[in-house]
Amino acid sequence: MAEGRERKQAIDSWSIRTHAEVMADPIVPRDLDVDFANVPRHWLAGNATATAISNGVNMLFPHGERFFVRSVKYFLDRIEDPELRAQIKGFFGQEGRHAKAHDDFNAILRAQGYEVDRFLDAYKRLTAWIEERSSPELRLATTAAAEHFTAIMAEGAFTRDVLDAAVPEMRQLLAWHAAEEIEHKAVAYDVLQAIDPSYALRLRGLLLATITLGGFWVWGAITLLRQDGRGLRSVLADLRAMRRDDPIIRRVFVRGIREYLRRDFHPSQNRTEALAAAWFAARGMTLPEAA
Ligand SMILES: [Fe+2]
Ligand SMILES: [Fe+2]
Repeated sequence: MAEGRERKQAIDSWSIRTHAEVMADPIVPRDLDVDFANVPRHWLAGNATATAISNGVNMLFPHGERFFVRSVKYFLDRIEDPELRAQIKGFFGQEGRHAKAHDDFNAILRAQGYEVDRFLDAYKRLTAWIEERSSPELRLATTAAAEHFTAIMAEGAFTRDVLDAAVPEMRQLLAWHAAEEIEHKAVAYDVLQAIDPSYALRLRGLLLATITLGGFWVWGAITLLRQDGRGLRSVLADLRAMRRDDPIIRRVFVRGIREYLRRDFHPSQNRTEALAAAWFAARGMTLPEAA
């Protein structure tokens, strides 16, 4: 136990390096340096279903976050506000690092014996097909809505003690990702408002984000559960063991959609910034205010 605690402290204290060259940006990308090699197969509370639900969305991040970057980058030349342009650059840096870190974790899923590439190839092919047939404005609106969903996931990581049951390496990955998602939660939304503030476009983006994120998340989780040999009965037993009164998928989509439907919605209305700042400050890491 003591060894585990020491290992956790070592990971929490030393595994992230800040990037001095971006300290002037209001959104600060930080590198994660965690070795996932010893992460066990069921790393979340030793629970196969809880782990598969988390891995289901983790698997989507590399391709999904690169799509977010492409969607915003398309409009970069049309954004004149220097503050928003600086935030966009920080957003690119953060999402690029998240995609890389989750690529590394996907390699661990393969090493654990999961066959993830058939699923990931189908996910990439189907989303590429949708991307080719969507306007740049719809792609941006989809990104803005998806970023609201990730901001709710991020808030839950800090307020619902979910990560306490994770092994230290995964706690570090997901808390780092969550804190940076909170920092840049308004960037894609603000770009969308600058490019086309139409409520109808925002809703079309919400619809597409809900279908794609929700659909592939569930598909990914089922893909992993089937390979673990979990049937419906054992999945239900796992879920009962977690005793979550507000499961993550319901929280993200029910609360996320309800909030996003408000005509006067803005991501800053959820006052979550202090959660991210406190997590970084506890580790002596660069904060936007200090830049
Ligand atoms: Fe991200
Ligand atoms: Fe994000």
